Amino acid sequence: MRRAKITIVGAGNVGATTAHWCAAAELGDIVLLDIPQTEGMPAGKALDLMQSSPIMGFDSRITGVTSYDESRGSDVVVITAGIARKPGMSRDDLLSTNAKIVGSVAEQVKSTSPEAVVIVVSNPLDAMVQRAFQVTGFPPQRVLGQAGVLDTARYRAFLAMELGVSVEDISALLMGGHGDTMVPMPSCTSVGGIPVTQLLDQKRLDEIVDRTRKGGAEIVALLKTGSAYYAPAAATAQMVEAIVRDKKRLIPCAAYCDREYGVGGYYVGVPVILGSKGVEKVVELKLTPQEQSDFQKSVDSVKELVKVMATLTG
Ligand code: LAC
Repeated sequence: MRRAKITIVGAGNVGATTAHWCAAAELGDIVLLDIPQTEGMPAGKALDLMQSSPIMGFDSRITGVTSYDESRGSDVVVITAGIARKPGMSRDDLLSTNAKIVGSVAEQVKSTSPEAVVIVVSNPLDAMVQRAFQVTGFPPQRVLGQAGVLDTARYRAFLAMELGVSVEDISALLMGGHGDTMVPMPSCTSVGGIPVTQLLDQKRLDEIVDRTRKGGAEIVALLKTGSAYYAPAAATAQMVEAIVRDKKRLIPCAAYCDREYGVGGYYVGVPVILGSKGVEKVVELKLTPQEQSDFQKSVDSVKELVKVMATLTG
């Protein structure tokens, strides 16, 4: 069987760590692509990672390149390129710079890997995935964004820490944009099969949701020189795995919703079934009036961002 070809654009912390998780899980052959100031950087990181493989016992070819030619014919392309947040910045502050960067990456991906499934990780996430969709012109099923897996993982980690139970026993879902308006779904959160509302009161649950919403900013404030990368990269690798192994995972991703949830043609975090063709289905849940109103607020803020982006990109 042919191995999957996975290109990761951007060899910064998120890109390189995504390469690390994907290589360790033997998801395929990995091309780490960057146009850096120090020309050898992607090759150096790739070689270093490759040299860890005899010790760790994984079998993946990893190459670091500076030209899209070498990424030709990729099955999956992960876009992490762009600047990251500094303390005090919101994800939205990155809009203008990253819209240009993601737009030019998408141009290249369109011509070199026309059959790829594209996963966007750059922020502000929901707008950047819309940009990649616009520029590649790929079917919406093949362009999606990483956010929900990360946000849900943060929420699951915080719940496990609070309850003193294994993270493995927490199953949860968050919807909406990757920002301060993300929508927790307590009705879809359980601990070893027990609804979380039986184990935590509403006030504590709300505090945990609030910490989750600000989970990215909490890390930025601690690191001071950049933003989170272990968990964002792990979340991305899980999506790559669902695609290359056609796992049909039911996980939250930023997916194109038109009639779905009445969104009207924007990318927003929703539960999807993710397999080799990309988003194989957007799963529509019946939302409570509160969830519906929170979701609508989140969608409205994504639309606002996309409108501002349109004025910046023409
Ligand atoms: C975060 C950034 C990467 O949530 O969006 O950490």
